Amino acid sequence: MSVASLKGRDLLSMADLSVDEVREILELAIALKAGKIKPRCDKILGLLFTKASTRTRVSFSAAMYQLGGQVIDLNVNVTQVSRGEPVVDTARVLDRYLDVLAIRTFEQQELETFASYAKIPVINALTDLEHPCQVLADLQTVKEEFGQLEELTLTYIGDGNNMANSLLLGCALTGMNVRIAAPTGYEPTEAIVAKAKEVAGDRSQVLITSDPEIAAKDAQVLYTDVWASMGQESEAQERMKIFQPYQINESILNVADPKAIVLHCLPAHRGEEITDAVIEGSQSRVWDEAENRLHAQKALLVSVLGAE
Ligand code: CP
Ligand code: NVA
Repeated sequence: MSVASLKGRDLLSMADLSVDEVREILELAIALKAGKIKPRCDKILGLLFTKASTRTRVSFSAAMYQLGGQVIDLNVNVTQVSRGEPVVDTARVLDRYLDVLAIRTFEQQELETFASYAKIPVINALTDLEHPCQVLADLQTVKEEFGQLEELTLTYIGDGNNMANSLLLGCALTGMNVRIAAPTGYEPTEAIVAKAKEVAGDRSQVLITSDPEIAAKDAQVLYTDVWASMGQESEAQERMKIFQPYQINESILNVADPKAIVLHCLPAHRGEEITDAVIEGSQSRVWDEAENRLHAQKALLVSVLGAE
């Protein structure tokens, strides 16, 4: 009971997954959540995180414990990583102890170097470029709400950051229309937009605009994320001014489909990218979305480990 083609594989980008693999991971996550299957494994997951995390750290850990496995939290401050041991050395050593490794860091290149030196599956637990694990949970949440993904429109309003990049790819892979509204100069990564367009082909639309109203019109999902990501703290004040028109509030929600749901990867800054009324309102699904991190990542772990 796993996505067989993923056994032993890395997940460094949403683009590492095929259309069928994303569909199968989501089906597996939904079956795991319903308790229809109870795969077991006795493997060890390492968590090597250079940035703060609540959801990713705890949901990966809980998933592994529920499967019967173990977790080692490799806090970088108490390992030799913080003293500058080269990534290529750390990767080859951890490879000998662990069965799977989730990494949260700044540069995608560092993750890729790690993965190329470690034979075990390496999972992107967030980089500056992408956050694929979050997007698996997001897609699961949308599928649970609407029963399908094809023909729906997801609109992301805010910074063209790691979330915007992975959502572009995730929506394209699942046949959803995806629209990003970002201020000029803060658009998502060009190469990822091009890849999303290639993946979407004739099946769905990819739109990048600076106009939140055009993007939100009749959309079934409104999504946002912080205006200053981890590592961009020094730009926060400047960004606060630039991003004011990119808030998810009741007025932009009124432009969307009346059945629209609101998602946010969390942590949220109420009064900045989202209002308190919207995040606490009846159209918000952020707590189900956060829960789904557990199920989606369990589906991923089961698959890369080949657990039965
Ligand atoms: N959404 C998310 O990845 O949350 P954490 O930073 O708390 O892991
Ligand atoms: N874009 C945010 C996501 C946090 C889950 C960041 O990288 O800080």
